Amino acid sequence: MSHIRIENLTKVYMGRRKKPRGLYDPTEHSGDNVLVLNNISLAFEEGEMVCILGPSGCGKSTLLRIIAGFELPTYGTVMVGDQSVKGPSAQSIFVFQYSGLFPWMNVYQNVGLGLRHMSDQHAKNEQIHEYIEMVELDGFEEYYPHQLSGGMQRRAELARAIAVNPDLLIMDEPFSGLDFLTHMKMREEVVNMHEYIRKTTLVVTHDIDDALIMGDRIVVLSGRPAVLKLVHKLDFPRPRDFERDHDLSRLRSEIFLMLGVPYAV
Ligand SMILES: Nc1ncnc2c1ncn2[C@@H]1O[C@H](COP(=O)(O)OP(=O)(O)OP(=O)(O)O)[C@@H](O)[C@H]1O
Ligand SMILES: [Mg+2]
Repeated sequence: MSHIRIENLTKVYMGRRKKPRGLYDPTEHSGDNVLVLNNISLAFEEGEMVCILGPSGCGKSTLLRIIAGFELPTYGTVMVGDQSVKGPSAQSIFVFQYSGLFPWMNVYQNVGLGLRHMSDQHAKNEQIHEYIEMVELDGFEEYYPHQLSGGMQRRAELARAIAVNPDLLIMDEPFSGLDFLTHMKMREEVVNMHEYIRKTTLVVTHDIDDALIMGDRIVVLSGRPAVLKLVHKLDFPRPRDFERDHDLSRLRSEIFLMLGVPYAV
């Protein structure tokens, strides 16, 4: 059974009602109504890293917010495991955000939040240090978020996600605003984190290369209203290399074309 099942998901942001309630068709794309997601059905396997691409404004963040339970769909259902998503769930779904650290807690305390249920203080301390080391923040345990660079904050947030060990990890453009080298490093960290926790991870990105390097599966959405343009399992060996792997490079060109860029850059 798939870990996540999305069936006939449709989202309309309602504008001002212009017709009496009985005559009102919420899927009608008229007046102030905005049809964002149009009948999307998808299924992801347990432990997969799924990368979602699509033009700006097509509804990627909306899709993630619905899966995380922060918003309700207009039609359709989202199942995580055997549970239908009805609202946010702090333990089973972790939403990675760059401002997700608590500013009044240092790195050690922020990472330790996910392990607060552990009663063995020695084991807990060891685990917190292991996760901090994994994201190469050892030596910064006592630092508060405002004392860290943007890249370090995101690595601390990643350590926190590992500590929470959620059933589903959701990341909306986790590398936005990072300089090129930090972006590359952070991408590697996310791949390592996923190898380590092997939990279902959904990543929205506008970067085709990120999606092809990281994903076990790629989903491409059309412009708004978003419909599925491509769902493709990425069976390419890792580490992935566009120069050596011609099939991967061909797929990259196809996706560029699909997103309206006639040549791969
Ligand atoms: N709360 C809301 N109320 C009304 N319209 C909304 C709301 N949230 C999003 N929208 C609209 O839904 C559409 C999709 O927005 P969304 O943020 O999901 O796009 P996106 O694909 O994540 O874009 P980007 O790549 O720029 O982040 C946009 O037209 C946006 O204006
Ligand atoms: Mg978005």
